Amino acid sequence: MQKILVTGGLGYIGSHTVVALQEAGFEVVIIDDLSNAEASVLSGITRISGTTPLFEKLDLRKKDSVAAFFKNHSIDGVIHFAASKAVAESVENPLLYYENNLHSLVYLLQECAQNGIQNFIFSSSCTVYGEPDSLPITEDAPVKQAISPYGNTKQISEEILMDTCKATSLKAISLRYFNPIGAHDSAEIGELPKGVPQNLVPFITQTAAGLRTTLSVFGADYPTADGSCVRDYIHVVDLAEAHVKALQRLLTNESQTPYEVFNLGTGKGSSVLEVIKAFEKVTGQKINYQIVDRRPGDVVAVYADTKKALEVMGWRTQRSMENALASAWKWERKVRGI
Ligand code: UD1
Repeated sequence: MQKILVTGGLGYIGSHTVVALQEAGFEVVIIDDLSNAEASVLSGITRISGTTPLFEKLDLRKKDSVAAFFKNHSIDGVIHFAASKAVAESVENPLLYYENNLHSLVYLLQECAQNGIQNFIFSSSCTVYGEPDSLPITEDAPVKQAISPYGNTKQISEEILMDTCKATSLKAISLRYFNPIGAHDSAEIGELPKGVPQNLVPFITQTAAGLRTTLSVFGADYPTADGSCVRDYIHVVDLAEAHVKALQRLLTNESQTPYEVFNLGTGKGSSVLEVIKAFEKVTGQKINYQIVDRRPGDVVAVYADTKKALEVMGWRTQRSMENALASAWKWERKVRGI
């Protein structure tokens, strides 16, 4: 059995990917510092797959601990999720973001080189495209000046990977996520934001659950069909399955170049108001919302060109936005006991 290290494997996308890896027959070892995840996620994973992955609580900024980890495990591939991801927090505390997101990557790559591990998958983001010149966005679209330190860490990380692939025998794939939403169908794992959610769908489900009184729609005067921003919302289980495809691509030496990049999206853009309407329709829950000022840093519209992921990697989404919204609500109800 091939053994895959998943950093940040108890987080939102990480936990769904762990399940997908187990279902595909991989052994998984998780590193997580529990800074934005609960240890109980491990039980949720076990209830779905029947197998408890190995888990080490470890802070990837501690170089010696990272080195010690690799001495104890023989790893075939790494999927690196562990990172801070709150855009506003990164503006307030940029050094925390540069330290956390970049040191961890560098230490992991040094250990990969040291231990002959050649297969590396990185969590990137469509945020690297900034405000795109044309839609849908292809992987060739220019990387624009980052709006936040968080976004900048994703761009710098991609450059670190590109340079490392040129200089060493590393093969890496950066997966640029659009907007992941939803939860595992079983409602055993899902998104667990700490404090007030910054992202749209957790805010919607918490409003429906009565934890928040009103959802603020950040702007309805954008140049889009209904005036609200447009995003490409992708089911987190589809996203998880793409990681397995990408990993298999590396393990079977199918990469065309040592460093590759793929968009992971549905190819369809939905506005904030459309998401609210779709949620109301699939769940029967009315969402109390008001239109407020634009949120600084938001781009008008982004959605993926999905051709490369399909033609090169043989991956496309299987699940609808409605399905994702229904699963997000099922998960929220389970968490709140309603
Ligand atoms: C952001 C980041 C992205 C990051 C992702 C996950 C940017 C440009 N994007 O995506 O890189 O990977 O978060 O953390 O930095 N909205 C509301 N009301 C709310 C919340 C959101 O109207 O209460 C709107 C936003 O204005 C936006 C859409 O919903 O138009 C989606 O917002 P959000 O879920 O925060 O994701 P992004 O900003 O697209």
